[in-house]
Amino acid sequence: MIAAMDISIRKVERSKLLELDPNNLPFGKYFTDHMLEADYENGEWKNIEIKPYQPLLISPSVAALHYGQAIFEGIKAYKDGEGNAYIFRPHDNYKRFNISAERMQMPAVPEELFIEGMRKLIELDKNWIPSSPDHSLYIRPFMFASDEMIGVKPSDSYKFLIILSPTGPYYSAPMRIYVEEQYVRAVPGGVGYAKAAGNYGAAMYATAQAKKKGYDQVLWTDAFEHKYVQEIGTMNVFFIIGNKAITPDLGLGTILAGVTRQSTITLLQEAGFEVEERRLTIDEIMEAYKSGQLFEVFGTGTAATISFIKELRYKDFVMKFDVEKWKTAPTIKQWLTQIREGKREDKYNWMWKI
Ligand code: COI
Repeated sequence: MIAAMDISIRKVERSKLLELDPNNLPFGKYFTDHMLEADYENGEWKNIEIKPYQPLLISPSVAALHYGQAIFEGIKAYKDGEGNAYIFRPHDNYKRFNISAERMQMPAVPEELFIEGMRKLIELDKNWIPSSPDHSLYIRPFMFASDEMIGVKPSDSYKFLIILSPTGPYYSAPMRIYVEEQYVRAVPGGVGYAKAAGNYGAAMYATAQAKKKGYDQVLWTDAFEHKYVQEIGTMNVFFIIGNKAITPDLGLGTILAGVTRQSTITLLQEAGFEVEERRLTIDEIMEAYKSGQLFEVFGTGTAATISFIKELRYKDFVMKFDVEKWKTAPTIKQWLTQIREGKREDKYNWMWKI
């Protein structure tokens, strides 16, 4: 166990905050004054330090660069009207982080390090939490294998870090999505449910092909029949069909268990929807569109929050949506935003006060 007092703090001499333009915060481009860094060696976590944000000095032989033992999380912090700082559901991301760690044969990070380290770091850089609408402080905890050895085996040593990025919306406009039926993101028994860095690298080629065709992202389908939809590059996906909300279930381990996905399910139920988590085919989606029953399609994610999809293309069949007329996704987005900004009752205790 690591007591909070074992986290040492070294502050910057001069903050960079005044150099930041709060009206120009593209996702993930700017970082706060401090970061947390810790080492796992000989079976224990040590050298736990919050220190000025700085480059890492690593050997070219460092294991993560060669065999991809690297995982991460995405979490957000917000400020309410009185300037109090809150983190959205950090314990859920903490649990998922260690699920990813186990799948990648990496050590678990203790809660005292992950949560208490994050709390202390944000306390220090609290003034970096943006207050403009749709803005937040994006929290990126990550861990990578740090053995200096190129044999293929789980590393004995690891680095765990947390960095913070004041940020605007990830996708600012409604999206065009290409249903992928050639390349694959995840298979049962694979690492699809883990937030492993390699999942994102492996997705880039297919995404680039879709971008060449004018699409923002791909909607992945299953590896065997390319029939069951899974998730969109950086988000889980929801379909409003008739009076139901449907999202692919997590059963086969091919989909990331999104914290925003889970929050959206809860809010959809609060809004009176029957929510179905189940396998869903692209044929069912097209049939619903043709019969006028596919009302809304949207993505959910920490970075993406709720992102509206204005076009979905499968082969030559194009489904278009008039997002201006939507009721459901905008309501869920608004409720989430209001909860995060302290303007709607936090009845599920999602906001964790710093
Ligand atoms: C997130 O939503 O936090 C993600 O990690 C998705 C993406 C930015 C990689």
